[in-house]
Amino acid sequence: TASAALFDLDGVIVDTAVHHFAAWRQTAAELGFTLADEDEERLKGVGRMDALRIVLEIGGVEVDEATALRLADEKNARYVDAIAAITPADMLPGAQEVLEDLRARGVRTALGSASRNAPLILERLGITGLFDAIVDGSVVTEAKPHPRVFLAGAEALGVDPATCIVFEDAIAGVQAANAAGMTAVGIGDPAVLTEAAAVIPGLHAVDALAAHGITFAATL
Ligand code: G6P
Ligand code: MG
Repeated sequence: TASAALFDLDGVIVDTAVHHFAAWRQTAAELGFTLADEDEERLKGVGRMDALRIVLEIGGVEVDEATALRLADEKNARYVDAIAAITPADMLPGAQEVLEDLRARGVRTALGSASRNAPLILERLGITGLFDAIVDGSVVTEAKPHPRVFLAGAEALGVDPATCIVFEDAIAGVQAANAAGMTAVGIGDPAVLTEAAAVIPGLHAVDALAAHGITFAATL
């Protein structure tokens, strides 16, 4: 029985993955190569500079540090443009309901995202207040699969990591949750998120977790 729930943002609460990937595809195009659909999974959940390193590796391109920073900034500018129009209607099905329900039952909630844009997106979605703690890419520098982002979330909530459930759509995020000693619930495809304790298609299907023995109780 879990006393706290930690949520990834991109791909769990809001469908921004498509915008991240489109912005990276543009980076690749400018450098003269193409990203394949299969490349998207590797870019999910990892921090901005790590994602850039993966993109450059795929293209077999080497750049100096200044160019790398510029490419990452330009990618982010495109991404921020793309998400400028996000509204509460862009929330993934079940996300707000699950957050509200858990809090009503006394279960603590935290955001654990690699994204430095997370606070902005939460504001746009109008759900900042549904989290007892927010850990994002501006607070934590070690990127998933490093467990830091989730350990910092548990610490901010004052709960034992072993009693935390993490909702994650990325392989790197599931690995981070496992490394933190937490229970990882995958959001997406069980064939992709093979290291998760259970996989559901989205937060709308959270009730299915009881059959996997994953339940929540109020934090004392
Ligand atoms: C999330 C996304 C990644 C992204 C990372 C950093 O984890 O899944 O695709 O690279 O955040 O986001 P940022 O908005 O700071 O570039
Ligand atoms: Mg994600």
